[in-house]
Amino acid sequence: MAPQPLIIDCDPGIDDAIAMLLALASPELEVLAITTVAGNVPLANTTANGLRVLDLAGRADLPLAAGSSRPLIWVPEDDSSATHGETGLDGSELPAPSRAAADEHAVDLIARLALERPGEITLVAVGPLTNVALLAAMHPAAFAALRRIIAMGGASNGGNMSPSAEFNVWFDPEATERVLQSGQDVTLVGLDVTRQAILTSADIEALEQLPTIGPAVAGMLRFYMRKHVAWYGEEIVYQHDSLALAYAIDPDILGLVYCHVEVDTGVGPARGATLVDRLGVFGGSANAHWAERVDVERFRALLLSRLASLSCR
Ligand code: BDR
Ligand code: CA
Repeated sequence: MAPQPLIIDCDPGIDDAIAMLLALASPELEVLAITTVAGNVPLANTTANGLRVLDLAGRADLPLAAGSSRPLIWVPEDDSSATHGETGLDGSELPAPSRAAADEHAVDLIARLALERPGEITLVAVGPLTNVALLAAMHPAAFAALRRIIAMGGASNGGNMSPSAEFNVWFDPEATERVLQSGQDVTLVGLDVTRQAILTSADIEALEQLPTIGPAVAGMLRFYMRKHVAWYGEEIVYQHDSLALAYAIDPDILGLVYCHVEVDTGVGPARGATLVDRLGVFGGSANAHWAERVDVERFRALLLSRLASLSCR
């Protein structure tokens, strides 16, 4: 089967970096471009980090374009630098990027590619959905020409930025709601499943032995683990963003329910909550495929084997 054409919109970010490597190592995917957005750390850092990861993977040929430097409406005081480090890839010791980002805005790049291949491209968004909402607003025909959107975001049984809000949705709730109301084919891979998508200390030790990518991958995952140990008391690291990519590679990894999902865009304590209306009590039509179940071992085997294959090239 021909590889699926795909664009990754991201805010690297340690788990974003691992997700990029997973995608680049997977023959089922044809990665067309990387686009960046502000989220885990400011846009200048997410962009530099995206370029650094492409250098690490030997893919400096791929276009990378920077997008939105802030959410649509309200700029939160906090980001995720406590989790991912000041650079966003702390612990990796990766060198500065070999080149600058493309001279094109991320939203324009996605629009151009979508119109070149109508109905073909999957957009996997693993950061806040600001660029995706701007695409819907500024280039509606290109937005409609995407095959589908798979986004890492949301939580229906406990958030990570508040009791109910997950980071990517919390950072730009209005953008998420805009995408959910768009009529596009949207899949949401949230914390309900990504908190089961873990790597352990033993996995990191094994990854460290891989030629080329091993030291950087292990270094950043060990840094990422500090926050996990502090918050969850376990020596594990969640691979939120890789799970969204893994679903694009192997749909059997997730079990989904198609239902109405909406975001709390108010300014109260539930801002950024994703309300997953499985029983249809809001009366809204179904607008998202919500991930409810994950085949954890299938995911782990895919991620670990693909990272190993990448380092062998
Ligand atoms: C999401 O937030 C970010 O910190 C991660 O990169 C991931 O995309 C998890 O809530
Ligand atoms: Ca991310």
